[in-house]
Amino acid sequence: MKKRSIGEDKPIYLEDTSKTHYPSLEKDLEVDIAIVGGGIVGVTLAYLLKESNKNIALLEAERIVMGMSLKTTAKLTLQHNLIYNELLHTKSPGKAKEYAEANLRAIKFVKNTIDIEKIECDLREVASYLYTINEDSIRKLEDEEKAYRRLGLQATLETNVEDLLSLPIKAALKWVGGSVFNARKYLLKLAERFIDEGGKIYEQTRVKRIEEVEGFYLETEQGKKVYAKKIVIASHYPMYDGMGFYFTKLNPQRVYAITAKVNPGDMPQGAFISIDQPTWSIRPMYEKNVVLIAGGHHRVGDDLNESRHYEELKQFAQDVFKTKEITHHWSTQDYDTPDHMPLIGFLNSSRNQDIYVATGFNKWGMSGGTNAALVLKEMITTGHSPYQDLFNPLRIGSYTGSEFIKHNIDVAKNYLKGKLKSVPKDLHPNKGEAVVTRLEDGNTYGIYVDEESTAYIVDLTCPHMGCELRWNSAEKSWDCPCHGSRYAFNGEVLEGPSTYNLHSYKEGKNEIHPNVL
Ligand code: FES
Repeated sequence: MKKRSIGEDKPIYLEDTSKTHYPSLEKDLEVDIAIVGGGIVGVTLAYLLKESNKNIALLEAERIVMGMSLKTTAKLTLQHNLIYNELLHTKSPGKAKEYAEANLRAIKFVKNTIDIEKIECDLREVASYLYTINEDSIRKLEDEEKAYRRLGLQATLETNVEDLLSLPIKAALKWVGGSVFNARKYLLKLAERFIDEGGKIYEQTRVKRIEEVEGFYLETEQGKKVYAKKIVIASHYPMYDGMGFYFTKLNPQRVYAITAKVNPGDMPQGAFISIDQPTWSIRPMYEKNVVLIAGGHHRVGDDLNESRHYEELKQFAQDVFKTKEITHHWSTQDYDTPDHMPLIGFLNSSRNQDIYVATGFNKWGMSGGTNAALVLKEMITTGHSPYQDLFNPLRIGSYTGSEFIKHNIDVAKNYLKGKLKSVPKDLHPNKGEAVVTRLEDGNTYGIYVDEESTAYIVDLTCPHMGCELRWNSAEKSWDCPCHGSRYAFNGEVLEGPSTYNLHSYKEGKNEIHPNVL
């Protein structure tokens, strides 16, 4: 069968932005505040703190704004799936209202900042829609609309919506006040402003270890030390747990995205997300005449045929937007929490009030990440945020309930299943493919053969907490089903929480020798 093209293997936002070249940390450093992670939380917080008279350093393991903040749909919206009716029932009307207020504040902050700083980042005001194509699910949208009314949010439930998308939509809940934009353009400009005010950014500076003394010692991969009075862990999955047990609260999810050329007349007039399964998230990119479609989400390591998600996205683009012209594709990873709200605040308030964390954005990182930066700025500079109780990482609900139990049963199951799994005998995969096998020492290894026929052999025990890794054929990576760490085929760590590479080996002519990364 002829292989269908799915465009360039990179997020489309990279096209219009240059690479960053901030230096790596070459000598020990002493700062007031160290921010670990250069995504939307870290960069926005650095920008917010730039006039605080504090000595601040942002430390990024790779390059800034190259992770989730680059691989996003970049929707600024209050419509985080069916969250408001859920919060009314699982929390309280007061908490549901606070959640809406906090996110609305974040959306306004982004828009105002773009205005004040005159940032050209393709911002377009668009209505957002939650929609269903199932008669049975109209009720869910009706309940959500009632929740909006109860919380004083303006939204309209529309049933006559054939013109919105070429889908048999039964109902859609419309909210006006959101936008779409290019988050990378926006964040790179905030980073520049931070530097202008004397801030420091160090790229390719991976923090490997944190020691809580009087203040904190951070140690980088290159052995440099940073002493900081306060630390913010903004590394997506916290690279330091500090007895906060984040591995029990974060459920790693993978999501796939494509962009496809469309005729101007077929461009969606709004940002959409379905409440059905499978979930499709859609946004227009008017400046490029493309539509961005994301979907296919699944728990990391749970889907061994990941290439098919791109084919499904491509088919959806063809069916709905009459296009076969895919320009780009990419995948990303986010963390869900049991109560579907982010974890923002003290990493572990009973132990140390100078270490903060922000994570678990449940795929709503644009408003969620900006909100996190606003909350943390208030906590750091004034000692209090009006939203710190709502998002407290140690709140009841962040780790209880059936989802929590299911998640942790999954973790335990993956650990045991991985260890006991029978493995194929075939030690010679085709070029570009991988197999899992047990070698003579009794350990389980993954073997990948590249296009030059070189075999890379990695120990499949995840260095984070020992789960067994699985092959991701779409990304050619080894993925951890427990907490979402990912490693390249040669064992190099791509995504945390792990900060360590895998034990890896390379097959030479007559021997297998350690692969030095
Ligand atoms: Fe935690 Fe792999 S990421 S065990």
